[in-house]
Amino acid sequence: MIENPTTFNSSGKNPHFFMEDFPLHTAPHTGPVSIEISELNLWYGSSRALKNIHLRLPQNCIFAFIGPSGCGKSTLLRTINRMNDLVLNCKIEGKVKINNIDIYNKNTDVVELRKRVGMVFQKPNPFPMSIFDNVAYGPRIHGVSKKEIPEIVERALKQAALWDEVKDRLKTPALSLSGGQQQRLCIARTLAVDPEIILFDEPCSALDPISTGKIEELMIQLKDRYTIIVVTHNMQQATRISDYTAFFMSGELIETGRTEEIFENPKDERTEKYITGRFG
Ligand SMILES: Nc1ncnc2c1ncn2[C@@H]1O[C@H](COP(=O)(O)OP(=O)(O)OP(=O)(O)O)[C@@H](O)[C@H]1O
Ligand SMILES: [Mg+2]
Repeated sequence: MIENPTTFNSSGKNPHFFMEDFPLHTAPHTGPVSIEISELNLWYGSSRALKNIHLRLPQNCIFAFIGPSGCGKSTLLRTINRMNDLVLNCKIEGKVKINNIDIYNKNTDVVELRKRVGMVFQKPNPFPMSIFDNVAYGPRIHGVSKKEIPEIVERALKQAALWDEVKDRLKTPALSLSGGQQQRLCIARTLAVDPEIILFDEPCSALDPISTGKIEELMIQLKDRYTIIVVTHNMQQATRISDYTAFFMSGELIETGRTEEIFENPKDERTEKYITGRFG
């Protein structure tokens, strides 16, 4: 039987998998696991928001997190770049390993971690500065030399499929862009610091179908270079773009596997009910 590459047994054996072991038709997976979450529990005060999560996320794929509102998707996403460190009364137990290193290790440089693990939020949040300065912001604070900046800005805007729309107005305020353009700008800002992993928390929920299509196309292109996690309430979106899906309820990971298996042949009744719209 083929082991589900997104789960692993409690002995933590076999943290790597290769194409020959898992003949995938959705994604070229030849590399090792990028993120490995084990025995992860999280509390906000006395309320437990994540319950014993075990999950492996392969490199260079799109992983969708789905589940009813309040089930802990954003919370789990934030454990991957330690954004929950900023939340008072938040207690975390367990391990989150990126390329085999536990990011909750006391030697972790959190600023460096957040450069490696970028995040794009539901509501586009450009800084109140020019388009150019938004994208240049990260490289500048990470000490990139002045003369390299324009090239980085152009590359990131091209990767985010925004360059053609803004190349003649780079000095204008980012807040003058449309919502869909602002979201692509935020993606460019994330790409400009050259991350390894990008976390998208409902990136299209405020966008029209055309902008949504552009962002989805972009995510598919980006997975060649990055590992992507996307939280979505849009089941069609999950099936259109993701290679793997994890379904959560009340802080628990209920089921995970290849997206087509989760949607066509869910093993847990709760998953089936959720994806067919019978609850949640
Ligand atoms: N900063 C916080 N302080 C206290 N409780 C929080 C905090 N953030 C989230 N929670 C609680 O943790 C639980 C999980 O919240 P989370 O935002 O992760 O859910 P979600 O699955 O992303 O939901 P949605 O789909 O609505 O975005 C909820 O009960 C929420 O109220
Ligand atoms: Mg959320």
